[in-house]
Amino acid sequence: MSRQSRPEPGNAPASEAARPDPAWRALLDAARRTRADGGLDRDGASAADRAAAVHAASDRSAIHRQAPTDAARGLLAWADGGWTRGSSVPAETAALLDLYLPLCNARKDSTVTIGHLGQSLDGYIATESGDSNFVTGPANLLHLHRMRALSDAIVVGAGTIAGDDPQLTTRRVDGPNPVRVVLDPSRRLDARYRVFTDGRAETLVICDVRHASNGTESLGLARVVGVPADAGRLDLAALLAFLAARGLVAVFVEGGGATVSRFLEAGLLDRLQIAIAPLVTGRGRAGVRLPGRDAIAECLRPAHRVFAMGDDVLFDCDLRAGAFAPPARDREQATLRRII
Ligand SMILES: NC(=O)c1ccc[n+]([C@@H]2O[C@H](COP(=O)([O-])OP(=O)(O)OC[C@H]3O[C@@H](n4cnc5c(N)ncnc54)[C@H](OP(=O)(O)O)[C@@H]3O)[C@@H](O)[C@H]2O)c1
Repeated sequence: MSRQSRPEPGNAPASEAARPDPAWRALLDAARRTRADGGLDRDGASAADRAAAVHAASDRSAIHRQAPTDAARGLLAWADGGWTRGSSVPAETAALLDLYLPLCNARKDSTVTIGHLGQSLDGYIATESGDSNFVTGPANLLHLHRMRALSDAIVVGAGTIAGDDPQLTTRRVDGPNPVRVVLDPSRRLDARYRVFTDGRAETLVICDVRHASNGTESLGLARVVGVPADAGRLDLAALLAFLAARGLVAVFVEGGGATVSRFLEAGLLDRLQIAIAPLVTGRGRAGVRLPGRDAIAECLRPAHRVFAMGDDVLFDCDLRAGAFAPPARDREQATLRRII
């Protein structure tokens, strides 16, 4: 069954859109400020914020007078070129800020790229027939929409568009839609899919440069862009450079398994998020697929944080150099803790 015909679990009535909370507003605000032209000053204010504050100060009747860091005050602090969480916030707010701050710290000179997959206990992101609606529950869907709202661009592979016809918008949260980026190296997709027709967000189709004509081509409402490719594999570093040159520096790679795996294999993910659902599919579509290793000691064992997300558990892995966790046996002091 497709996404059009099956209602999304926990949809609109519970949407945050109707009641955005201060912490979420602070995150949206922080992401916007960090990417502002000219960077931020020591107090986390952009040039535009300072200009607005001066204007408001000279106009005592201004209703919307706002100091540069009002939204973030107490919740977030700007230090050493990045946002950090304030120390005295309630646990649930602290978890929200901790999870999303890495995206808020993407800057014009420093892209942040995060991959996500929702998978079953036995490691599959869809059934063998390609049904992935819905592997994870409403809390993880809300998380996806939050990630989209804090990102400049959302990347998916052609397989996900062909199989799911997703919208890739931020329907469940208050926040902007990211630019939708579809990887279709050989241009196998036609214009029938919603991302190419609904006009809800700017959409780019990324293909092997040999399949792009002169840079003015379109697919429905989407623009077709060519990047270099080798044996059908797109040069993902070139893609990220292209996006960064357009100011798209917070990049969310939402699937499917092949697409996230290629970013991972190329060493281009800053973080990898895997949401594990209490679901067993038997055979299915694989999540992460990488060349195998002979020894466990050679396998990737990244530093990670664990978030309870409704019935699912999210592993949020830090893939940056040096951020590798010691094997669990070295941390036996903290072995057993119930999180749900
Ligand atoms: N549970 C989840 O989190 C989740 C998320 C998204 C999707 N899904 C499910 O996953 C399935 C689709 O996943 P999938 O792994 O089969 O496909 P996919 O990752 O959506 O798309 C893979 C295709 O995208 C193109 N592609 C991606 N990266 C590329 C690169 N670096 N260079 C060249 N081409 C690239 C290739 O197209 P060509 O084949 O044309 O070369 C590739 O075959 C669907 O069943 C969908 O429902 C699950």
